Amino acid sequence: MTTLIQEKLRERSIPITEIEQSAFCQSDPKLESKTLEAEFKAGVRWQKISPAYLRIEPQELTERIRIARAKLGDRLLILGHHYQRDEVIEFADYRGDSFNLSRQAAERKGVEYIMFCGVHFMAETADILTGPDVSVILPNMTAGCSMADMANQDDVLDCWDDLQDVLGAYGGIVPITYMNSTAGIKAHCGANGGIVCTSSNAAATFEWALKKSKRILFLPDQHLGRNTGVKLGIGLDEMLVWNPNKPLGGHTADALRAARLILWKGHCSVHTRFDVEQIETARKRYPDVNIIVHPECTKEVVDAADSNGSTEFILNAIREAAPGTVWGVGTEISMVNRLAAQNPDKTIFCLDPVVCPCSTMYRIHPAYLLWVLDGLNEGVVVNRISVGEATRANARIALDRMLSVV
Ligand code: 13P
Ligand code: SF4
Repeated sequence: MTTLIQEKLRERSIPITEIEQSAFCQSDPKLESKTLEAEFKAGVRWQKISPAYLRIEPQELTERIRIARAKLGDRLLILGHHYQRDEVIEFADYRGDSFNLSRQAAERKGVEYIMFCGVHFMAETADILTGPDVSVILPNMTAGCSMADMANQDDVLDCWDDLQDVLGAYGGIVPITYMNSTAGIKAHCGANGGIVCTSSNAAATFEWALKKSKRILFLPDQHLGRNTGVKLGIGLDEMLVWNPNKPLGGHTADALRAARLILWKGHCSVHTRFDVEQIETARKRYPDVNIIVHPECTKEVVDAADSNGSTEFILNAIREAAPGTVWGVGTEISMVNRLAAQNPDKTIFCLDPVVCPCSTMYRIHPAYLLWVLDGLNEGVVVNRISVGEATRANARIALDRMLSVV
């Protein structure tokens, strides 16, 4: 059990990434890259970089990246998450959602370097799934994820200990962590009979876990956890939210014993911007609109939408839809803008009227790509992501379980 002093020490924690989350929000619908120096003015934490890269205009960056990348040929694989800005994603050899990107990392053979244009937990996962001969690189080390930062490893371990104490003879609990978590938390799940999931396979991993135990601890996104639980018939009255800043997560031992799904108190600041009113406004404006959202949105938003799924699910649904259809989308703006540009025969718009990119994804600026590529061409690997052996082994167990379940 945690002590009062430990509780006091914990009454801090809004992650910096969360505080910085709206740094790039703007009302101008045009979201265009500027020089890195100009973007530094947003005031978020950035990784230091040689001054030579600060003032290069985006157009010149594109040209120089193309040349530097070509020199590395098949030695390099660039992976890009759908939320990356256009000026970065155009260089991705493979684009995907978290699940498909991790699969690519696991299956690609013969490359020396993987440059991961995404966020830190994705690069860590790629490192875990590749051998020691592959260097995984995150172009900007400050590209984290505010949701992942809401599950601090010590808090999770304390929660787990508390649950073991409370549940004891009352039966087990299986930990499931969303991909958006540190390697340490994935390792904890691997070592304790648990599994990793992404937004595209959360339901399958819940089914897997419920065959082993009647209870799940889901980390760190309460919304994905709740939406998935509801999909599988778990009642809202059988779910609890674990607040790491309160003793026993804010519950009595009896309530914890009665619960079937314990949800960590974490969320995505990008997806919790969407609300039911935005959906109602869209339906008034376009009576035939299809509302499609990511399951990191709240349950109310998911319920009010017509469909929900991972970034890849959203992309495919819109790509395959009939010309002339109208789509109101509840996910990150860089992806929505690109979908609109790539599907000019359809009407596609973001449900949120404010243009608010994920501020950590947005930290992958093309200047960092060039910096990394120039380094590689000179034989220097910068920003290598390297997960320690013990963590890697247990995290790999949880990731392999996911890859075998779906
Ligand atoms: P997916 O690409 O797996 O849907 O995940 C979205 C996300 O939040 C990445 O941070
Ligand atoms: Fe994290 Fe949300 Fe950004 Fe995804 S969109 S990287 S969950 S903060």
